[in-house]
Amino acid sequence: MRVSVLLPALLTPLAATAQIIDSPDGETAGIPANYTEAKAGWFDLPDPLVGADGKPFADAPAWREKQRPMVFETVETNQYGRVPPRPAAMTFDVFDKGTPAFGGKAIRKQVKITFDEAGEHFLDLVIYQPAGGGGKRPVLVNIGWIGNNLAVDDPGVKTGRQWNKDKLGREAATAPNPFGKLNFLPMALERGYAVAHFNYTDIEPDDPAGFAHGIRKLYLKDGRTAPAPDEWGAIAAWGWGLSRVIDYLETDDGIDAAKVTIFGVSRLGKAVLWTAARDERVACTLASVSGSGGASLNRRRYGERPAHLVARFPHWFAANFAGWAGREDEAPWDSHFTLGLIAPRAVLLQTGSTDKWSDPYGEFVAARAATPVFHLFGQKGIEEYSQPPHGKPVMNRLGYLMHEGGHGTVPDDWPVFFDFMDRHL
Ligand code: GCU
Repeated sequence: MRVSVLLPALLTPLAATAQIIDSPDGETAGIPANYTEAKAGWFDLPDPLVGADGKPFADAPAWREKQRPMVFETVETNQYGRVPPRPAAMTFDVFDKGTPAFGGKAIRKQVKITFDEAGEHFLDLVIYQPAGGGGKRPVLVNIGWIGNNLAVDDPGVKTGRQWNKDKLGREAATAPNPFGKLNFLPMALERGYAVAHFNYTDIEPDDPAGFAHGIRKLYLKDGRTAPAPDEWGAIAAWGWGLSRVIDYLETDDGIDAAKVTIFGVSRLGKAVLWTAARDERVACTLASVSGSGGASLNRRRYGERPAHLVARFPHWFAANFAGWAGREDEAPWDSHFTLGLIAPRAVLLQTGSTDKWSDPYGEFVAARAATPVFHLFGQKGIEEYSQPPHGKPVMNRLGYLMHEGGHGTVPDDWPVFFDFMDRHL
C-alpha cells in the first residue's frame, strides 16, 4: 500500500526553498540531469509504518519486531546488498598501545585489524584519545579517504596504503585528498571525544576493476565471479569494515562503545547511513552530503539519479539496484526507509546550499518522510514543513543541517556536529 505521507511537505510553496536556485538542465555520463525544481516531480512514497496487510503499526515494539525486518530486507536486497557476519578469523593487533601525541594533548593507539587467516585482507586504524581524565571516551569514527599517515600531522603514524587505479594495486599512501585531513581533531579532543580513522579502500578498492583486491572476493560463493545480485556492493563493504572497527572498539578500555558516532563524506556519507541502518551499535551518525544513493530520494528527478550512479559507479551497490534505475516510482522503498531504520538513534544529515548534484532538498524531504518512524519511538525528527535555510540546523534525533556552500563539510559544520553529539549521546 502506498500513501502520500509527504503531502504537507510537497504542498509547501517552493519559494520556501529559495536557496535552491534553478539552473539550466545539464547531463552527466550522457544522462540528463535536471536542476529545475518544477520538473523534479510529484510522487507517492511507500509508508515504512504500513505492514504487508495494509495496516499501520502504531507502537514501536511491534514495528521493531514485525515491520523493521521487512523494511531492512527491502533496502538491503534492492540497494546496498547483504553482508557476511563478523569473520571468525579476525584478529586485532594493537601495535601502538598508547603513545603521547600532539605535544601531550592526545594518546595515540594504532591497530591492525586482519580479516582472514592468510593475512591478505586488513585495515589500519589510528585512534586519538584526549590525554588525562582517564575513563572511557565517546568516539567519533571517520571512514576516511586517505592513509592514516596523510590524515594527521603525526610522524608516529604508520604509513597506510592507497589504491592505484593505473597499476591496479595498492601502494604506500602518498596522495593527499582535500576531503581527507582530520581538521576537526583538535576540537574533538577539546570536547572530550576520541577520534578513530581508517582509509576506506583498505576494505575494498573504489574501482570496479579492483574487485580482485577487495574483501568481497573473499566471500564469493557457489563458484561465482561476482557477488549475487542481492549481495554487497562496495558501499556495503565499506560499511562492513566500519562494523569491524566497532568490533575492535568494543574491546578498547579507553572507549565508551555505547557512544560510537560514525562520520563519512559523500560516497562515504552513503556508507555511514547504511552502516547505521544495519548495525545498531552505532549510536550517532553524521552523514555529510550523502546525496543520491544516500539520503536523497531516488524518486526525485533532481541532480544525480540512480541511473547516473549505476552507470558511473557500477561497483557501489548490489547488482539489483541497477534494475530500479528509471523505475524509481515503482520501487517498494526509498531513502526514507534507510533513515527510518536508524530510528530512534541519532542521525544528522548535512548538506550544502549550492551542492545541487546531491539534491539537499531531496535529503530534507526524505528526512521528513522518515520522521513518523522517529515519532513512533517518542523522538522528534523534522517537524517543519519547509526546508530550513542554511545555518539554521534542526537538532532533533533526526536532524538536518545545510551550510552555505558546496559539497563536503565547512569549518562551521563542526561545532554543530559536536553539539549534536553532546545532545544525543
Ligand atoms: C560523485 C557521485 C556522488 C558521490 C561523490 C563522492 O559526485 O556522483 O554520488 O557522492 O562522487 O563520493 O565524492
